[in-house]
Amino acid sequence: MHRPYYEELSEKERHVRELLGPLGIRVSPIAGSPVSIGWRHKVQLPFAFRVESKRQIATLGCFARESHQVVDQMECHIQDPALTRLGMAVRDWANRERIPVYDERSGEGFLRHVLMRKAHGTGEILLGLVTNGPRPTHYRALLKTLLKATAKALPGEDGTLVGVVQNINERSTNVVLGEQEQSWWGRDWIKEKLGKHTYHIELSTFFQINPYQTPRLYDEVRKGIREGSRVLDAYCGLGTIGMWVADRCSEVLGLEENPRSVQAGRAAAKANGVTNMHFVRADASERLAGLVREGWDCLIVDPPRKGLEEAGADAIESSGIPRLVYVSCDPRSLARDIERLSKSYRTLSAVPVDMFPRTTHVETVATLERIV
Ligand SMILES: C[S@@+](CC[C@H](N)C(=O)[O-])C[C@H]1O[C@@H](n2cnc3c(N)ncnc32)[C@H](O)[C@@H]1O
Repeated sequence: MHRPYYEELSEKERHVRELLGPLGIRVSPIAGSPVSIGWRHKVQLPFAFRVESKRQIATLGCFARESHQVVDQMECHIQDPALTRLGMAVRDWANRERIPVYDERSGEGFLRHVLMRKAHGTGEILLGLVTNGPRPTHYRALLKTLLKATAKALPGEDGTLVGVVQNINERSTNVVLGEQEQSWWGRDWIKEKLGKHTYHIELSTFFQINPYQTPRLYDEVRKGIREGSRVLDAYCGLGTIGMWVADRCSEVLGLEENPRSVQAGRAAAKANGVTNMHFVRADASERLAGLVREGWDCLIVDPPRKGLEEAGADAIESSGIPRLVYVSCDPRSLARDIERLSKSYRTLSAVPVDMFPRTTHVETVATLERIV
């Protein structure tokens, strides 16, 4: 963070070039984020504790590098400031109420994580408490003091808390969220606006976390899609990319494994009047093989960091799909997958887009065309 942002951008661009250049791909200049601090709209922090005079003091923050040692957070420049204040208020509340913190060694204790999401377009904030165990019987008393603390932390116009949700995770695992949720207060979703569309975002549904740069990323995908195409949007989340490009397409089919995302995506398409986008709930790597034979013109993939599964890559390789737009949050897995597909696809363009300023991560949009 001590370096100028332009230096960071050139380093990221160079990194993508080093990975894609040897494959004969020309990498375009990186698109920097219009906002390089305070952009993160989803914050997920683990609780830990230290012991002082035989009393447990809750701490909350990121893990120190390559450890599970929590660095108690006082400030974080990349987070939305309202979420930073809210996180600290929740930690102070936990200490005042003496709520035991989960200890991963013994499996004892209650509070595991705080998860906060803010909708940039509306200012709505959702607070999630991930716990080892169900809702406590005296939760109403706890809620009263929690709401008092959060109201102090969010006094201005830069955020309004609309719901408190408890997520129960009793497993001994590094996976943050459990399957079950219980509401403490308000809604279990926030309303977000992106371009001309609105979405309901829940604790567990994916949504891009840098709202200042998301339109830039999606416009890059849009450039790769020909007018009138039938488009498959795989790993689609709430279908935000599909809906961004739907007015250029004759039809869009979203493919997503999280049932809550599919449900919210269908509701969003309906509410936004996007009548030519539909959704299928499925594992993309399993389902692609069947779908790619149905005469689609373009496939968008936006997989998690690990990239395409072998089955998914094989299905694309043997498909007749003329165009592929690959949105990647890890240039290493992107390079591996492009190389894997190189007998059947030629890369037309690769544009790095900085979605994560002041971190080492970089997003890339690659557009590929079928050669055989
Ligand atoms: C990087 S996000 C992209 C979401 C969306 N394109 C966007 O821009 O908001 C990846 C999405 O893929 C979903 N996902 C992960 N593995 C999957 C799989 N095997 N099949 C289908 N969807 C998957 C995740 O639930 C998540 O919604």
